Amino acid sequence: MSDNSLIAAASEVRSRAYAPYSNFAVGAALQTKSGKVFTGCNVENISLGLTICAERAALASAVADGEREFVAVAIVTGFGEPVFPCGACRQVLVEFNPELQIIAATTDGRSETVLLSDLLPRSVQKILKPVTNV
Ligand code: THU
Repeated sequence: MSDNSLIAAASEVRSRAYAPYSNFAVGAALQTKSGKVFTGCNVENISLGLTICAERAALASAVADGEREFVAVAIVTGFGEPVFPCGACRQVLVEFNPELQIIAATTDGRSETVLLSDLLPRSVQKILKPVTNV
């Protein structure tokens, strides 16, 4: 799937974002290695910290469908410049592929692509065991 089709899928799901508190609607479309696309939008809550970001919503949907191999995610916002995933989403995405392509796009047609490993360098890749010889 082309970057533009992935952006179109993210843009479409963005129209269903529930963002009454920030008024900042976000759509995400995650592409699997096998070519499927899973989408998600942000879902806010009056208890603000419970907000679910679009990227994590898309990822949870894909994993629930049995997918674990991802190649790219497109994120669409109505901001003037491309917006990249928050720190929490970077960490959740890096679990599955540090080399994931992040395509950050805007509703007015701008986009920028970066590698997740550049947004979250030196991420933890295995469970760290404490030294026990104390
Ligand atoms: N948000 C996302 O869903 N993804 C991002 O990459 C940036 C932020 C949401 C969270 C919140 O609902 C709103 O955007 C404002 O931060």
